Amino acid sequence: MIISFRCVVALTGAGISVESGIPAFRGSQGLWSKYDPMEFAHIDAFISNPHKVWNVMKEFGAIFDRAKPNPAHKALVELERLGYLNCIITQNVDNLHQDAGSKAVIEYHGSARRLICLSCGKKYRSSEISLNVLPPTCICSGILKPDVVFFGEPIPKDARMEAERQARICDFMLVIGTSAIVAPASYLPIMAKENGATIMEINPEGTSLTRTIVDYSIQESATVVLPNIIKAIQCLKRNPLNCKSLFRPNLTS
Ligand code: OAD
Repeated sequence: MIISFRCVVALTGAGISVESGIPAFRGSQGLWSKYDPMEFAHIDAFISNPHKVWNVMKEFGAIFDRAKPNPAHKALVELERLGYLNCIITQNVDNLHQDAGSKAVIEYHGSARRLICLSCGKKYRSSEISLNVLPPTCICSGILKPDVVFFGEPIPKDARMEAERQARICDFMLVIGTSAIVAPASYLPIMAKENGATIMEINPEGTSLTRTIVDYSIQESATVVLPNIIKAIQCLKRNPLNCKSLFRPNLTS
């Protein structure tokens, strides 16, 4: 399907980075089971106590700094290189798609690699700002916040518009490692479906999309599925008649 469709788009979430050592948000091991998002990821909480929120953000930052792209990130790079992936819309702020080498990446929830001043809007690379004294501040003395979308904040306009455009124009959407609970990102597969796209979900667990709009569900880790997809594509390109052994039977539709 991937090689026959005209425009393939991937929507990724925290699940794709789990095997890079970054915990997902939901579930028993998720970040939100340890931290209340309303206390640590809401813009009002940040404004009322930036020091407290920054203490936790600094911990997340250290996890992101140690993380390396895994075989799922690398497979998406290969899919793009082969010309079968138009772009990735990611909800992740860990930069691992770009670290792996993906070129067309829409950062729907911003990036933890940048900081933004709440007063003047100036942006900094996080590597140029010391976190020895919290909260870090801008040259204008405003407070710096990670340039990620907190609850209560809008999606950056350019990212939102481009993601919606891609959702409308794609004819095949891979929905990878997201619980599809958080709006408006969760509307993107619905928008794609409404515009005629086929939806394939790659997630070891079912989501609210699985039994509603998903056409094909592969319930396995992205680090297993995506490299297998690349192998299958390479095999099909080399010898289309001799690839049956690559296709596994656990594809449900
Ligand atoms: P969630 O933590 O809600 O969901 C992660 C999904 O990944 C779950 O459905 C898991 O089953 C799945 N998963 C786990 N391991 C996987 C693997 N190896 N391969 C594939 N899938 C796997 O994370 P998101 O859906 O990304 O928002 O969360 C959406 C948003 O909620 C985040 O962007 C963040 C959070 O609050 C902001 O920070 C604004």
